[in-house]
Amino acid sequence: MKLKTKDLLTLAELTPKEFVGLIDHSIKLKKELKKGGNKPILKNKTLTMIFQKPSTRTRVSFEIGMYQLGGYAINLSSNDMQLSRGESIEDTAKTLSRYTDCIMARVYEHKLLDKLSEHASVPVINGLSDSFHPCQTLADFMTIKEKKGKLKGLKIAWIGDGNNVCNSMIYGAALSGVNMSIATPKGFEPDKTVVKESKKSTNIELTTDPLVATKNADVVVTDTYFSIHNNDSKRIKKFLPKYQVNSKLMNTAKKNAIFMHCLPAKRNQEVTSSVIDSSQSVVWDEAENRLHTQKALLVALIRA
Ligand code: CP
Ligand code: NVA
Repeated sequence: MKLKTKDLLTLAELTPKEFVGLIDHSIKLKKELKKGGNKPILKNKTLTMIFQKPSTRTRVSFEIGMYQLGGYAINLSSNDMQLSRGESIEDTAKTLSRYTDCIMARVYEHKLLDKLSEHASVPVINGLSDSFHPCQTLADFMTIKEKKGKLKGLKIAWIGDGNNVCNSMIYGAALSGVNMSIATPKGFEPDKTVVKESKKSTNIELTTDPLVATKNADVVVTDTYFSIHNNDSKRIKKFLPKYQVNSKLMNTAKKNAIFMHCLPAKRNQEVTSSVIDSSQSVVWDEAENRLHTQKALLVALIRA
């Protein structure tokens, strides 16, 4: 599938058809892999990964994904690059474009990705910024589709911090006709523009009451209160105990609701072990699906 966009920075670049198409291709690639292996459709292609922040899932799933498709990935900590000595992002983008077929970057400030995308002639993928985590959303919606058999008309309850992962999930909901109810403390709401734009395509409800969010919810989601870019220990007072996903709160959603978390989790803060280790939790499938969805994305961007 060919995407209209060169880059994936937020998810807003995709059409609903492209979003659902990527998820369906991911499901095919997953089946193919489990049957014996993927075809080397990215043979001789390379991905360059830049990390300003730590990562387990994003780094490993991109690197192994490229390998499984016959390509190659290299991993660069921004500290080891001339970026750390003041080389501009513009010059870095132009240089890397002469070597590699795609750049994936995990950055503190989203505007760095905008600059990378403007000056790189090759596709640029956001591997997490302070504002968005689009690759996570692709994996999340693939997981929901696998577990529920559909997307349109479902209800997601987001509990906790209206952060980067939440912003991307809202775009995902708008692209697939999923309804979202987002319960956050005052002052921790998701991005206003994202909410406003997405409300044109689906129901996005903001509340401070977790019980409003979980009512009739098919999916309950949370994330850490301490994102890498937002690590002030005083925040915890605003979230606990009201915004913890525990068994009591989980029981207020639909009986067959699933629990999701992008990981890493701070157990017994935003979610109790009794929920994350329960049969309703799909967090390991969700982590695995990063691999399959990113492969579909890489194929769509690099082969386009
Ligand atoms: N969910 C996620 O992006 O995990 P990492 O920070 O380990 O990459
Ligand atoms: N919101 C978290 C997600 C980590 C995958 C963060 O930005 O650190």
